[in-house]
Amino acid sequence: MLRRSVLTVAELAPVRWLFEKHGMKFGVDRFIAGESLPEALAQVKRLNERGLLATLDLLGENVSDARQAEQTAAAIAELFPVIERHGLRANVSVKLTQLGLKTDPRLCLKLMERIASEAAACRNFVRIDMEDSSVTQATVDLFRQLRSGFGPERIGLVLQSYLFRSEQDVREIGTQGTNLRIVKGAYREPPDVAYRRKREVDAAYVRLVRAHLEQGGYAAVATHDPRMIGSVLELTERLAVPRHRFEFQMLYGIAVDLQRSLADAGYAVRVYTPFGRHWYPYFTRRIAERPANFWFVAKHLFRS
Ligand code: FDA
Repeated sequence: MLRRSVLTVAELAPVRWLFEKHGMKFGVDRFIAGESLPEALAQVKRLNERGLLATLDLLGENVSDARQAEQTAAAIAELFPVIERHGLRANVSVKLTQLGLKTDPRLCLKLMERIASEAAACRNFVRIDMEDSSVTQATVDLFRQLRSGFGPERIGLVLQSYLFRSEQDVREIGTQGTNLRIVKGAYREPPDVAYRRKREVDAAYVRLVRAHLEQGGYAAVATHDPRMIGSVLELTERLAVPRHRFEFQMLYGIAVDLQRSLADAGYAVRVYTPFGRHWYPYFTRRIAERPANFWFVAKHLFRS
């Protein structure tokens, strides 16, 4: 309920204008590693020094201008040699709508091929984030094409447990050692495509991780929910899944103590580290996920 209301209000033009104008003053930097690449690299270095891996995400989505999509792709591709030069332990995530998926899927495929080639040249990895359900099928199709060209060690995908279709997807595309990030899902979805109740989303989450591990895939268990993490740890123990077949992932600035305690216990933990000027939609999804974040932002708002 709160999630739907926050996402609806966030779409109002004056609200967006207010936040984009005053941005960092409203506590945005709790969730975003900076607006520039050097700021983000400094945060990744800091995470690595604490034994945490990272995923860099150049923020942006819903790009319809071809030139802008090309520029974004060039900036994303350039991340791989930068990561290599700085000796960082990081890979990269991409949203296909920032490469024009909605307006020109062929251009999007071409740009993703460029990005995946650079990832391969640097022996790194790129993951395609999953966006709202209007682009799920196109995202899955494009992922399949890229995986057959570049292989599962260079390209991965995200599946969302709130979508009814994900159990079928995990069975169809989770084979051959595919690297899947499993999340609960962050968008506002209609009831005919997605579970609404937390209980159902959580149950589907554990089913997806289980199905994926049982068929030999690599699981990126992306959640801050201690109950999900407990269930996955129990599952991996029961199925005798070795630690090199899964990792935990959390978002920058969220559940930091949990990130540390899992890493201290010897598990691979990767922190999704978003940066860039187009932070507004990502930021509003984080606020919508948790009432306490709403009050955190409100406090900054009244102070400034
Ligand atoms: P849940 O929402 O049930 O929260 C469990 C607990 O975690 C909360 O009680 C709170 O303590 C903590 N928590 C959760 N969200 C918080 C927040 N915003 N601030 C502070 N505490 C919070 N989604 C998507 O649709 N496509 C994608 O590609 C991705 N990618 C992605 C990558 C990574 C690394 C992560 C961790 C998450 C995503 N997501 C995503 C987001 C995901 O779908 C989901 O919305 C959030 O992870 C919140 O769900 P939880 O699993 O944490 O559980």
